[in-house]
Amino acid sequence: MSEPQFGIFAQGTVAHYFLEFDLHRGAGLEALRELRQPAVSAGGVNLVVAFGPALWRRLAPAHAPKSLTPFTPVVAGDGRTAPATQHDVWLWINGSTPDVVFEHARAAAKTLEEAATLAAEQPCFVHRDSRDLTGFIDGTANPQLLDAPVVALVPRGQPGEDGSHVIAMRWVHDLEAFEALPVPEQERVFGRTKADSVELDEAHKPPTAHIARVEIHDPRGEELPIYRRSVPYGNVHEHGLYFVAFSADLQRYDIMLSRMFGTAPDGLHDHMTDFTRPVSGAYYFAPSLTLLHELVETGAISSRTPALASR
Ligand code: HEM
Repeated sequence: MSEPQFGIFAQGTVAHYFLEFDLHRGAGLEALRELRQPAVSAGGVNLVVAFGPALWRRLAPAHAPKSLTPFTPVVAGDGRTAPATQHDVWLWINGSTPDVVFEHARAAAKTLEEAATLAAEQPCFVHRDSRDLTGFIDGTANPQLLDAPVVALVPRGQPGEDGSHVIAMRWVHDLEAFEALPVPEQERVFGRTKADSVELDEAHKPPTAHIARVEIHDPRGEELPIYRRSVPYGNVHEHGLYFVAFSADLQRYDIMLSRMFGTAPDGLHDHMTDFTRPVSGAYYFAPSLTLLHELVETGAISSRTPALASR
Protein backbone atom coordinates (compact mmCIF):
# COMPACT_ATOMS: atom_id res chain seq x y z
CA MET A 1 0.00 0.00 0.00
CA SER A 2 1.48 3.37 -0.98
CA GLU A 3 0.58 7.00 -0.35
CA PRO A 4 0.49 9.64 -3.07
CA GLN A 5 2.26 12.99 -2.78
CA PHE A 6 -0.37 14.86 -0.80
CA GLY A 7 0.64 18.24 -2.22
CA ILE A 8 -1.08 17.29 -5.49
CA PHE A 9 -4.43 17.64 -3.74
CA ALA A 10 -3.66 20.40 -1.21
CA GLN A 11 -6.16 23.25 -1.44
CA GLY A 12 -6.36 26.82 -0.26
CA THR A 13 -2.88 28.18 -0.97
CA VAL A 14 -2.63 31.37 -3.01
CA ALA A 15 1.11 31.58 -3.73
CA HIS A 16 2.71 29.14 -6.15
CA TYR A 17 6.20 28.61 -7.59
CA PHE A 18 7.29 26.17 -10.28
CA LEU A 19 10.91 25.19 -10.91
CA GLU A 20 12.38 22.98 -13.64
CA PHE A 21 15.92 21.57 -13.59
CA ASP A 22 18.31 19.75 -15.91
CA LEU A 23 20.47 17.20 -14.15
CA HIS A 24 24.23 17.52 -14.68
CA ARG A 25 25.83 14.61 -16.50
CA GLY A 26 26.74 11.90 -14.02
CA ALA A 27 25.14 13.73 -11.10
CA GLY A 28 23.32 11.88 -8.35
CA LEU A 29 20.20 12.99 -6.57
CA GLU A 30 21.41 12.82 -2.95
CA ALA A 31 20.35 16.48 -2.81
CA LEU A 32 16.74 15.32 -2.90
CA ARG A 33 17.24 14.04 0.62
CA GLU A 34 17.99 17.57 1.81
CA LEU A 35 15.16 18.95 -0.26
CA ARG A 36 12.70 16.99 1.81
CA GLN A 37 13.88 18.64 5.01
CA PRO A 38 14.01 22.47 5.05
CA ALA A 39 12.32 23.05 1.76
CA VAL A 40 9.43 20.70 2.21
CA SER A 41 8.02 20.54 5.64
CA ALA A 42 8.58 23.97 7.16
CA GLY A 43 6.18 26.89 7.21
CA GLY A 44 3.03 25.19 5.96
CA VAL A 45 4.41 24.88 2.46
CA ASN A 46 3.52 22.04 0.08
CA LEU A 47 6.03 20.50 -2.28
CA VAL A 48 5.41 18.18 -5.20
CA VAL A 49 8.43 16.53 -6.85
CA ALA A 50 8.29 15.01 -10.32
CA PHE A 51 10.82 13.59 -12.77
CA GLY A 52 11.19 13.77 -16.54
CA PRO A 53 10.20 10.48 -18.21
CA ALA A 54 13.74 9.56 -19.30
CA LEU A 55 15.20 10.24 -15.85
CA TRP A 56 12.43 8.34 -14.08
CA ARG A 57 12.93 5.31 -16.33
CA ARG A 58 16.62 5.35 -15.37
CA LEU A 59 15.96 5.85 -11.67
CA ALA A 60 13.23 3.30 -11.19
CA PRO A 61 12.57 1.30 -14.36
CA ALA A 62 10.30 -1.15 -12.54
CA HIS A 63 8.07 1.74 -11.45
CA ALA A 64 7.68 3.53 -14.77
CA PRO A 65 4.19 3.35 -16.28
CA LYS A 66 4.33 1.85 -19.77
CA SER A 67 2.95 4.96 -21.45
CA LEU A 68 5.41 7.38 -19.82
CA THR A 69 7.08 9.35 -22.62
CA PRO A 70 8.49 12.87 -22.99
CA PHE A 71 6.27 15.67 -24.27
CA THR A 72 6.31 15.77 -28.06
CA PRO A 73 5.62 19.06 -29.81
CA VAL A 74 2.21 19.50 -31.40
CA VAL A 75 2.44 21.14 -34.82
CA ALA A 76 -0.76 21.98 -36.64
CA GLY A 77 -0.96 22.70 -40.38
CA ASP A 78 -1.98 26.31 -39.79
CA GLY A 79 1.16 27.16 -37.80
CA ARG A 80 -0.39 26.67 -34.36
CA THR A 81 2.18 24.89 -32.18
CA ALA A 82 2.74 23.56 -28.69
CA PRO A 83 6.52 23.44 -28.25
CA ALA A 84 8.30 20.81 -26.15
CA THR A 85 10.65 22.06 -23.43
CA GLN A 86 11.26 18.84 -21.51
CA HIS A 87 13.52 18.97 -18.41
CA ASP A 88 14.59 16.40 -15.78
CA VAL A 89 13.09 17.55 -12.48
CA TRP A 90 9.96 19.60 -11.75
CA LEU A 91 9.12 21.13 -8.40
CA TRP A 92 5.84 22.74 -7.38
CA ILE A 93 5.99 24.74 -4.17
CA ASN A 94 2.89 26.43 -2.82
CA GLY A 95 1.89 28.14 0.39
CA SER A 96 -0.13 30.95 1.86
CA THR A 97 2.18 33.91 1.11
CA PRO A 98 4.53 34.73 -1.79
CA ASP A 99 7.45 35.60 0.53
CA VAL A 100 7.52 32.20 2.24
CA VAL A 101 7.05 30.39 -1.07
CA PHE A 102 9.88 32.42 -2.64
CA GLU A 103 12.20 31.57 0.27
CA HIS A 104 11.43 27.89 -0.18
CA ALA A 105 11.91 28.06 -3.94
CA ARG A 106 15.33 29.66 -3.41
CA ALA A 107 16.27 27.08 -0.81
CA ALA A 108 15.18 24.24 -3.10
CA ALA A 109 17.24 25.62 -6.00
CA LYS A 110 20.26 26.05 -3.69
CA THR A 111 19.89 22.47 -2.48
CA LEU A 112 19.93 21.14 -6.03
CA GLU A 113 22.57 23.49 -7.45
CA GLU A 114 25.45 20.98 -7.26
CA ALA A 115 23.44 18.36 -9.12
CA ALA A 116 21.33 20.34 -11.57
CA THR A 117 20.95 23.56 -13.53
CA LEU A 118 17.83 25.64 -13.02
CA ALA A 119 16.23 25.63 -16.48
CA ALA A 120 12.96 27.50 -15.83
CA GLU A 121 11.10 29.10 -12.95
CA GLN A 122 7.67 30.66 -12.67
CA PRO A 123 6.01 32.36 -9.72
CA CYS A 124 2.20 32.21 -9.95
CA PHE A 125 -0.81 33.48 -8.02
CA VAL A 126 -4.49 32.76 -7.53
CA HIS A 127 -6.57 35.40 -9.31
CA ARG A 128 -9.78 36.45 -7.54
CA ASP A 129 -12.16 33.46 -7.18
CA SER A 130 -9.85 31.08 -9.11
CA ARG A 131 -10.26 32.92 -12.40
CA ASP A 132 -7.96 32.74 -15.37
CA LEU A 133 -6.75 36.21 -16.42
CA THR A 134 -9.40 36.17 -19.16
CA GLY A 135 -11.90 36.48 -16.29
CA PHE A 136 -13.31 32.94 -16.64
CA ILE A 137 -13.41 30.65 -13.61
CA ASP A 138 -10.87 27.84 -14.08
CA GLY A 139 -11.61 24.56 -12.32
CA THR A 140 -15.42 24.36 -12.38
CA ALA A 141 -15.55 20.84 -13.88
CA ASN A 142 -12.53 19.59 -11.94
CA PRO A 143 -13.13 16.32 -10.07
CA GLN A 144 -14.16 16.86 -6.46
CA LEU A 145 -11.98 15.88 -3.49
CA LEU A 146 -13.02 12.20 -3.32
CA ASP A 147 -12.84 11.63 -7.07
CA ALA A 148 -9.58 13.52 -7.64
CA PRO A 149 -7.23 10.66 -6.58
CA VAL A 150 -9.02 8.22 -8.91
CA VAL A 151 -8.58 10.64 -11.80
CA ALA A 152 -5.02 11.71 -10.97
CA LEU A 153 -3.28 8.55 -9.75
CA VAL A 154 -1.98 5.45 -11.51
CA PRO A 155 -4.25 2.60 -10.31
CA ARG A 156 -2.95 0.20 -7.65
CA GLY A 157 -1.28 -2.89 -9.06
CA GLN A 158 0.16 -1.07 -12.07
CA PRO A 159 3.80 0.09 -12.45
CA GLY A 160 4.07 3.49 -10.77
CA GLU A 161 0.94 2.92 -8.64
CA ASP A 162 -0.26 5.99 -6.74
CA GLY A 163 2.07 8.15 -8.79
CA SER A 164 0.76 10.70 -11.27
CA HIS A 165 1.45 11.91 -14.80
CA VAL A 166 2.05 15.65 -14.75
CA ILE A 167 1.66 18.08 -17.63
CA ALA A 168 3.21 21.55 -17.26
CA MET A 169 2.75 24.21 -19.96
CA ARG A 170 3.21 27.96 -19.84
CA TRP A 171 0.64 29.79 -21.95
CA VAL A 172 0.95 33.46 -22.96
CA HIS A 173 -2.36 35.28 -23.38
CA ASP A 174 -3.27 38.04 -25.82
CA LEU A 175 -5.69 39.70 -23.42
CA GLU A 176 -6.21 42.76 -25.59
CA ALA A 177 -7.50 40.62 -28.44
CA PHE A 178 -9.68 38.54 -26.11
CA GLU A 179 -11.09 41.54 -24.28
CA ALA A 180 -12.00 43.14 -27.63
CA LEU A 181 -14.64 40.39 -28.06
CA PRO A 182 -18.14 41.08 -26.71
CA VAL A 183 -18.81 38.91 -23.63
CA PRO A 184 -21.23 36.52 -25.44
CA GLU A 185 -18.43 35.82 -27.96
CA GLN A 186 -15.94 35.26 -25.14
CA GLU A 187 -18.40 32.80 -23.63
CA ARG A 188 -18.56 30.87 -26.91
CA VAL A 189 -14.74 30.62 -26.85
CA PHE A 190 -14.82 28.76 -23.52
CA GLY A 191 -18.33 27.22 -23.67
CA ARG A 192 -19.32 28.62 -20.27
CA THR A 193 -20.78 31.89 -18.97
CA LYS A 194 -18.26 34.43 -17.73
CA ALA A 195 -19.85 35.56 -14.48
CA ASP A 196 -20.76 32.21 -12.97
CA SER A 197 -19.26 29.49 -15.19
CA VAL A 198 -22.54 27.86 -16.27
CA GLU A 199 -22.07 25.51 -19.24
CA LEU A 200 -23.75 26.77 -22.43
CA ASP A 201 -26.48 24.47 -23.71
CA GLU A 202 -25.75 22.35 -26.77
CA ALA A 203 -27.50 24.82 -29.10
CA HIS A 204 -25.20 27.66 -28.00
CA LYS A 205 -21.91 25.83 -27.34
CA PRO A 206 -19.86 25.63 -30.57
CA PRO A 207 -17.85 22.44 -31.25
CA THR A 208 -14.77 24.69 -31.20
CA ALA A 209 -15.40 25.87 -27.61
CA HIS A 210 -12.57 24.99 -25.21
CA ILE A 211 -14.65 22.66 -23.06
CA ALA A 212 -16.09 20.94 -26.14
CA ARG A 213 -12.54 20.16 -27.32
CA VAL A 214 -11.19 18.86 -24.00
CA GLU A 215 -14.15 16.79 -22.82
CA ILE A 216 -13.07 13.35 -24.09
CA HIS A 217 -14.37 9.79 -23.75
CA ASP A 218 -13.07 6.24 -24.01
CA PRO A 219 -14.50 3.87 -26.64
CA ARG A 220 -17.25 2.78 -24.19
CA GLY A 221 -18.37 6.38 -23.77
CA GLU A 222 -16.85 6.84 -20.28
CA GLU A 223 -15.45 10.33 -19.71
CA LEU A 224 -11.65 10.57 -19.38
CA PRO A 225 -11.05 13.47 -17.01
CA ILE A 226 -7.85 15.04 -15.69
CA TYR A 227 -7.23 16.89 -12.41
CA ARG A 228 -6.21 20.49 -13.14
CA ARG A 229 -4.21 22.75 -10.80
CA SER A 230 -3.35 25.64 -13.16
CA VAL A 231 -2.54 29.13 -11.85
CA PRO A 232 -2.11 32.53 -13.54
CA TYR A 233 1.25 34.31 -13.68
CA GLY A 234 2.83 37.35 -15.18
CA ASN A 235 3.52 41.04 -15.34
CA VAL A 236 1.93 43.82 -17.36
CA HIS A 237 4.04 42.97 -20.41
CA GLU A 238 3.60 39.17 -20.49
CA HIS A 239 1.00 37.12 -18.65
CA GLY A 240 -1.11 34.01 -18.93
CA LEU A 241 -1.71 30.63 -17.38
CA TYR A 242 0.76 28.07 -16.04
CA PHE A 243 -1.27 25.00 -16.96
CA VAL A 244 -0.70 22.04 -14.64
CA ALA A 245 -2.68 18.83 -14.47
CA PHE A 246 -2.39 15.35 -13.00
CA SER A 247 -3.68 12.19 -14.67
CA ALA A 248 -3.75 8.43 -14.20
CA ASP A 249 -2.42 8.09 -17.74
CA LEU A 250 -0.65 10.21 -20.30
CA GLN A 251 -2.85 9.59 -23.35
CA ARG A 252 -5.56 11.89 -22.04
CA TYR A 253 -3.24 14.87 -22.46
CA ASP A 254 -2.22 13.82 -25.96
CA ILE A 255 -5.85 13.42 -27.03
CA MET A 256 -6.90 16.77 -25.52
CA LEU A 257 -3.96 18.62 -27.10
CA SER A 258 -4.62 17.11 -30.52
CA ARG A 259 -8.26 18.21 -30.27
CA MET A 260 -7.18 21.71 -29.17
CA PHE A 261 -4.63 22.16 -31.95
CA GLY A 262 -6.65 20.73 -34.83
CA THR A 263 -4.55 17.60 -35.38
CA ALA A 264 -7.40 15.25 -34.35
CA PRO A 265 -9.44 13.57 -37.15
CA ASP A 266 -12.21 16.22 -37.16
CA GLY A 267 -9.61 18.94 -37.89
CA LEU A 268 -11.31 21.53 -35.64
CA HIS A 269 -9.20 23.69 -33.38
CA ASP A 270 -10.02 25.13 -29.97
CA HIS A 271 -10.88 28.81 -30.48
CA MET A 272 -9.20 29.56 -27.17
CA THR A 273 -5.90 29.00 -29.02
CA ASP A 274 -6.69 32.10 -31.14
CA PHE A 275 -6.07 34.15 -27.96
CA THR A 276 -3.35 32.25 -26.09
CA ARG A 277 -0.33 30.20 -27.10
CA PRO A 278 1.91 27.77 -25.22
CA VAL A 279 5.60 28.65 -24.97
CA SER A 280 6.65 25.61 -22.95
CA GLY A 281 5.46 22.04 -22.54
CA ALA A 282 6.70 19.03 -20.58
CA TYR A 283 5.53 15.76 -19.06
CA TYR A 284 6.75 14.56 -15.67
CA PHE A 285 6.06 11.66 -13.35
CA ALA A 286 5.28 12.40 -9.68
CA PRO A 287 5.95 9.06 -7.94
CA SER A 288 4.06 8.05 -4.82
CA LEU A 289 5.42 9.48 -1.58
CA THR A 290 6.07 5.93 -0.39
CA LEU A 291 8.23 5.14 -3.41
CA LEU A 292 10.03 8.47 -3.25
CA HIS A 293 10.84 7.82 0.40
CA GLU A 294 11.96 4.27 -0.31
CA LEU A 295 14.23 5.30 -3.13
CA VAL A 296 15.84 8.08 -1.15
CA GLU A 297 16.19 6.04 2.05
CA THR A 298 17.60 2.94 0.39
CA GLY A 299 20.01 5.08 -1.60
CA ALA A 300 18.58 3.87 -4.88
CA ILE A 301 18.52 7.51 -5.92
CA SER A 302 22.25 8.16 -5.83
CA SER A 303 25.19 8.56 -8.16
CA ARG A 304 26.00 4.93 -7.45
CA THR A 305 22.90 3.89 -9.34
CA PRO A 306 24.39 2.52 -12.58
CA ALA A 307 21.55 3.98 -14.60
CA LEU A 308 22.31 7.49 -13.37
CA ALA A 309 26.05 7.19 -13.59
CA SER A 310 25.73 6.40 -17.27
CA ARG A 311 24.05 9.72 -18.07
C1 HEM B 1 -4.34 28.98 -21.49
C2 HEM B 1 -4.70 27.74 -21.33
C3 HEM B 1 -6.00 27.32 -20.73
C4 HEM B 1 -7.02 28.09 -20.18
C5 HEM B 1 -7.07 29.59 -20.00
C6 HEM B 1 -8.05 27.16 -19.78
C7 HEM B 1 -9.23 27.54 -19.17
C8 HEM B 1 -10.29 26.71 -18.91
C9 HEM B 1 -11.59 27.11 -18.43
C10 HEM B 1 -12.00 28.56 -18.15
C11 HEM B 1 -12.36 26.01 -18.31
C12 HEM B 1 -13.85 25.95 -17.91
C13 HEM B 1 -14.09 25.83 -16.46
C14 HEM B 1 -13.58 24.55 -15.83
O1 HEM B 1 -14.23 23.50 -15.90
O2 HEM B 1 -12.50 24.60 -15.29
C15 HEM B 1 -11.53 24.87 -18.67
C16 HEM B 1 -11.94 23.56 -18.64
C17 HEM B 1 -11.14 22.50 -18.95
N1 HEM B 1 -9.86 22.55 -19.46
FE1 HEM B 1 -8.78 24.21 -19.85
N2 HEM B 1 -7.67 25.89 -20.10
C18 HEM B 1 -6.43 25.95 -20.68
C19 HEM B 1 -5.68 24.88 -21.17
C20 HEM B 1 -6.07 23.58 -21.11
C21 HEM B 1 -5.28 22.46 -21.58
C22 HEM B 1 -3.89 22.57 -22.23
C23 HEM B 1 -6.00 21.32 -21.32
C24 HEM B 1 -5.68 19.87 -21.60
C25 HEM B 1 -4.51 19.41 -21.98
C26 HEM B 1 -7.24 21.74 -20.67
C27 HEM B 1 -8.20 20.88 -20.19
C28 HEM B 1 -9.40 21.27 -19.64
C29 HEM B 1 -10.43 20.33 -19.20
C30 HEM B 1 -10.35 18.80 -19.22
C31 HEM B 1 -11.53 21.10 -18.78
C32 HEM B 1 -12.88 20.58 -18.25
C33 HEM B 1 -13.79 20.31 -19.41
C34 HEM B 1 -15.16 19.81 -18.96
O3 HEM B 1 -15.26 18.61 -18.72
O4 HEM B 1 -16.08 20.62 -18.84
N3 HEM B 1 -7.25 23.10 -20.57
N4 HEM B 1 -10.29 25.33 -19.05
